[in-house]
Amino acid sequence: MNLLITGGAGFIGSNLVRLALERGHRVVTLDALTYAGSRENLADLDANPNHIFIKGDIRDYSTVEQTITTGFNGDVFDAVINSAAETHVDRSILNATLFADTNVVGTATLLDSARRHSIKKFIQISTDEVYGSITGSGKFTRQSPYNPSSPYSSSKTGADLFALSFYHTYQYDVCITRCTNNYGQFQFPEKFIPTIITNALLGKKIPLYGDGLNIRDWIYVGDHCDGILSVLEAGQAGSIYHFGGSNELTNIDLCSKILQILAQELSIDESQLRSLMTFVEDRPGHDRRYALDWTDSERELGWKPKTRWDSGLVDTVRWYLKNRAWWEPKLK
Ligand SMILES: NC(=O)c1ccc[n+]([C@@H]2O[C@H](COP(=O)([O-])OP(=O)(O)OC[C@H]3O[C@@H](n4cnc5c(N)ncnc54)[C@H](O)[C@@H]3O)[C@@H](O)[C@H]2O)c1
Repeated sequence: MNLLITGGAGFIGSNLVRLALERGHRVVTLDALTYAGSRENLADLDANPNHIFIKGDIRDYSTVEQTITTGFNGDVFDAVINSAAETHVDRSILNATLFADTNVVGTATLLDSARRHSIKKFIQISTDEVYGSITGSGKFTRQSPYNPSSPYSSSKTGADLFALSFYHTYQYDVCITRCTNNYGQFQFPEKFIPTIITNALLGKKIPLYGDGLNIRDWIYVGDHCDGILSVLEAGQAGSIYHFGGSNELTNIDLCSKILQILAQELSIDESQLRSLMTFVEDRPGHDRRYALDWTDSERELGWKPKTRWDSGLVDTVRWYLKNRAWWEPKLK
């Protein structure tokens, strides 16, 4: 298929572009290259004739129109996959307007243009955070109500509602994917797992919000991307699909696990790294726990996460060890 993938120079987007090309699709990447996106993330694809990179903003209607009407070298797109977004919760607390603008207005702009030009399918990449925090041991289903806590998750909820409104209003073939926390190569160093690794390597304090007992489920980025491509193949119009890794743990346990792997990889004493763990004031509005029931995706798409938690985490730590030249300049 001919695909337009927005945000393809970011963490999930760059992994998705690579997987889509491996599966035989042709891809145009549209990305504004904000602080979070980088051409470097796609550098290995520069000579790939099935990939075109365009620097552009999804909020800019004329850029979006131009990109969508051009298609892949004149061949009409079969689908738009919107992975472009402002994604860091802490930044959303400092500047909610930017998040509303990129995540809501940008998504609406893409939806308008894609529908007007009859692009057959639109996939909106969303998040478990639209449901807010869950207590006890339950999991959110796709019937669970929206209850976002942060400006980030509120803006993602707004984007989801726009996407669903295009299905209800125009019968436009829109699917939404909601996923738990991703880990893997090319994740910007401000996010939790890269922060643990890079601060440990630099001998800097590793911040843990509040009591460190907030729980997240972690999924390997490649499994998430595989899920998105299965929605491309078999997703039903107007449907929501959940993806998760079934690897739930507290932030303290996650941090300890990563430091244990790092100590093994570097052949150093683990207690040296553990002494860097530092409790800091909790994030305002911090959700306690997220967890998604993804059995509908298994039944309807035949999807399951394939990467074993231990091996995925070791691979991720090794990637950051090997790619210091990628992450170090991003800390400045
Ligand atoms: N990372 C996770 O754990 C996670 C979990 C669930 C859902 N998601 C969702 O997946 C998507 C991708 O997340 P990520 O972690 O890869 O984010 P990221 O911050 O690494 O990448 C976002 C990309 O979007 C681009 N971008 C930002 N504003 C843009 C604009 N106005 N126009 C064009 N491009 C723009 C950036 O340059 C960057 O390349 C987001 O929609 C996010 O909400 C992420």
